[in-house]
Amino acid sequence: MVASAAALGVRPATHATQTAGPGMTVEDLRVRFDAREVLHGISAAFARGRITALIGPTGCGKTTLLRSLNRLHDGRPGARISGRVRLGEEDVYDARTNVRELRRRIGMLFQRPNPFPQSIRENVALAARIHGLWSRAEVPERTEKVLREVGLWDAVRDRLSSAPFALSGGQQQLLCLARALAVEPEVLLLDEPTSSLDPGSMSRIEELIAALRERMTVIIVTHNLQQAARVADEVCVLLDGSLVEQAPAAAFFRGPSDERSRAYVEGRIG
Ligand SMILES: Nc1ncnc2c1ncn2[C@@H]1O[C@H](COP(=O)(O)OP(=O)(O)OP(=O)(O)O)[C@@H](O)[C@H]1O
Ligand SMILES: [Mg+2]
Repeated sequence: MVASAAALGVRPATHATQTAGPGMTVEDLRVRFDAREVLHGISAAFARGRITALIGPTGCGKTTLLRSLNRLHDGRPGARISGRVRLGEEDVYDARTNVRELRRRIGMLFQRPNPFPQSIRENVALAARIHGLWSRAEVPERTEKVLREVGLWDAVRDRLSSAPFALSGGQQQLLCLARALAVEPEVLLLDEPTSSLDPGSMSRIEELIAALRERMTVIIVTHNLQQAARVADEVCVLLDGSLVEQAPAAAFFRGPSDERSRAYVEGRIG
């Protein structure tokens, strides 16, 4: 391994990381697009049952890191990935990995809601049906349950057969969250999920994220440090393609231990 966590200045895993066991780990993860290396050997642990906020200035590689975790760079010509990514003990980049099943287990919500052009019902149920998690007979009940969980049921109960595009942006994002949850992921990757939402929708999503930590590993990219402080158990700071600090959120927000993280949080970088 070229760059160990210690060499990168990453603090040791927290007690919770050790007791809960790693949900996902990356070890010397390097991502290159054509001639340019964008992630320079990241080592980090994303603990099961914890919410990790991934923060850092624009262009530092946050989205690239998230997308590496569920192999969304596959198929991009010129993308080269090295190092290790593990889900529990499993090697995500093993040639035998079933990528479709991997992406069921590691769900993702993007910055802009991206509902499918099918009905609201199918947006929620289709993947769960395809993966064999829901029988046809179960669809109405389970669709209702997951839409209730995200707080969208009352808004959509009378238009389940309609396309989702008449929903507001916040409602569409909640629908995408319902779609992600329907397939019972073990890990949820959230890439600035509330950046285009009003404060009400943002709090709704934050409450949901907080409730999800019981069931899954959550990694949230955010530029909103107040949001990171509200929702995260753990914070990772990425600067210019390198992880400069991983720390429990409470300690981090009392004062980052790394000078570069402090400069970022104080608005002196980015
Ligand atoms: N598919 C790609 N091909 C080439 N370069 C890419 C690709 N995806 C990302 N990059 C480059 O990698 C770097 C990191 O981009 P990334 O989107 O990961 O940053 P980010 O931290 O998510 O930024 P932001 O906060 O603005 O979303 C950027 O310089 C970007 O141009
Ligand atoms: Mg991004």
